[in-house]
Amino acid sequence: MSRAAIYPGSFDPLTYGHVSIIERGLRVFEKIIVGIAINVRKDPLFTVKERTDLIRQSFPDESRLEVDSFQGLLIDYAQLRGCQVILRGLRAVSDFEYELQMANMNRKLDDTIETVFMMTEESHFYVSSGLVKEVARFGGAVSDQVPDHVEEALANKFSDPQ
Ligand code: PNS
Repeated sequence: MSRAAIYPGSFDPLTYGHVSIIERGLRVFEKIIVGIAINVRKDPLFTVKERTDLIRQSFPDESRLEVDSFQGLLIDYAQLRGCQVILRGLRAVSDFEYELQMANMNRKLDDTIETVFMMTEESHFYVSSGLVKEVARFGGAVSDQVPDHVEEALANKFSDPQ
């Protein structure tokens, strides 16, 4: 049995909340595969390559971390990668219903793959990529919510004429 877990998400961009789940996930699992979902319905700020690089830069020497991307169903990707565990972070209560629905749907699709939740650290409870983008777009400080290189990438995005 593989002891690898897939940590899926949009990661648009990586926040300290994600960093914390990856760090803690690496203490529990032998390997973490970050799966960046290519979602045709969402209009991401960062390309998959940019999101991959921002994640990789936070863990330059971590050989047990792989950053990959996938299209289509998460469960198909988990099967393709031979992973029995999907790792998700749970923040405030507001996440719960969405996460419960996804976990149940994924279990219906394949009940051999478990979704495992880690509670987000208190200090990252209200950190979300969406809010970070909104604040950064209008020049607000996000330095306590994202790593320095992500803050820089956000500033570059919003200073470029789009
Ligand atoms: O970071 P996000 O945007 O909350 O992550 C959501 C994600 C990517 C995990 C979810 O949208 C997903 O799994 N997308 C892949 C398509 C899929 O499998 N959808 C059915 C989920 S029940």
